[in-house]
Amino acid sequence: MAENQAAWLTEAEAYPFAVNDAPKPIPGPGEIVIKNAAVAINPVDWKIQTHGGYLNTYPFILGEDAAGVVEAVGSGVTRFIKGQRVIAHCHGLVTRNPANSSFQLYPVVTEALAAPIPDSLSFEQAVVLPLAISTASAGLFQKDYLNLPLPSSSKAEPTGQTILIWGGASSVGATAIQLAAASGLNVVTTASEANHEFVKSLGADLVFDYRSPTVVQDIANAIEGSEFVGIYDAISEENSFAPLAALVEKLNISVPVASVLPYDKPTETFAPKFVLASSIIQEPNQHVGEWIWGKFVPEALANGKLQAKPDALVVGTGLGDIQNALDIQKKGVSAKKVVVSI
Ligand SMILES: NC(=O)c1ccc[n+]([C@@H]2O[C@H](COP(=O)([O-])OP(=O)(O)OC[C@H]3O[C@@H](n4cnc5c(N)ncnc54)[C@H](OP(=O)(O)O)[C@@H]3O)[C@@H](O)[C@H]2O)c1
Repeated sequence: MAENQAAWLTEAEAYPFAVNDAPKPIPGPGEIVIKNAAVAINPVDWKIQTHGGYLNTYPFILGEDAAGVVEAVGSGVTRFIKGQRVIAHCHGLVTRNPANSSFQLYPVVTEALAAPIPDSLSFEQAVVLPLAISTASAGLFQKDYLNLPLPSSSKAEPTGQTILIWGGASSVGATAIQLAAASGLNVVTTASEANHEFVKSLGADLVFDYRSPTVVQDIANAIEGSEFVGIYDAISEENSFAPLAALVEKLNISVPVASVLPYDKPTETFAPKFVLASSIIQEPNQHVGEWIWGKFVPEALANGKLQAKPDALVVGTGLGDIQNALDIQKKGVSAKKVVVSI
């Protein structure tokens, strides 16, 4: 048996994953190899496995979130040393290189999307964050999106501005709330009644139940008269696009809207713009990735300003349990991140 093992997607729509040998990567310039200790599951994993389509070469390895110990560092790496505990956003779906994905014992990642974990957090707790951090940041801070001031790990200077984050109890939404609050914004969000206290604990000022028949009017009343700078739609399905379009129409405004999935019916006043998580390390947005992953996340995780939320729901141990974990995520979660210990 090879030292590295992976949960392979052997061909389009193959089910279940096949746990098998994988090459043990050697880190290139600016890269680190991680000895994985925990991975988290994201909707994109089961979407690709179920629907095929996105990938054109197989076998492939999925997985965007890793937490573990630095096994090796490549040339030019400045922020990490062997033996350090880290989290990383693994962007294999973008590089199209399975070595860069997390569902294996030894992923290789760019240091630009990694941060140290403080001793106060276990691997399972910390691994809930990486993809959500990049995705939330791409929509909140990039110039062509909401263009908010970059977040502060100490006390944020209040901007007096208001943002709406739709779907605050989701993984992306929970992180977006924390980042927007750390940028000094007033945060209005939506969540099920059972998660209202949860989203407030992350920094939301006002929360509305998205299932209420009066949700659009209630949000309109709450933000009317405020300096409203835009919308982050962390759900981006018909049941979020429709109320958001109605809200924009009711308020008769045109504001930037960041969406986590594409929208195919844009109008002049409502044109959600799809975010791609890994764009924060590409020009012209590199400064966003550098600030978030190089400064904010290490400091804010260490001082507790950034909480590892939603809580991990640990459903198994080892690569062989990843398939079941995807199946659990696919059935739907409420304010939980599905995690597997490795
Ligand atoms: N573009 C990118 O780069 C990128 C990156 C990451 C994720 N994504 C996409 O982003 C989406 C969210 O991913 P995730 O991992 O954050 O999801 P998740 O954590 O699995 O989302 C579950 C949560 O969504 C909330 N929710 C469901 N329907 C809602 C609605 N109509 N209005 C408000 N909240 C609603 C639920 O809130 P309650 O429990 O309160 O009901 C639940 O807690 C997925 O489609 C994913 O594929 C895109």
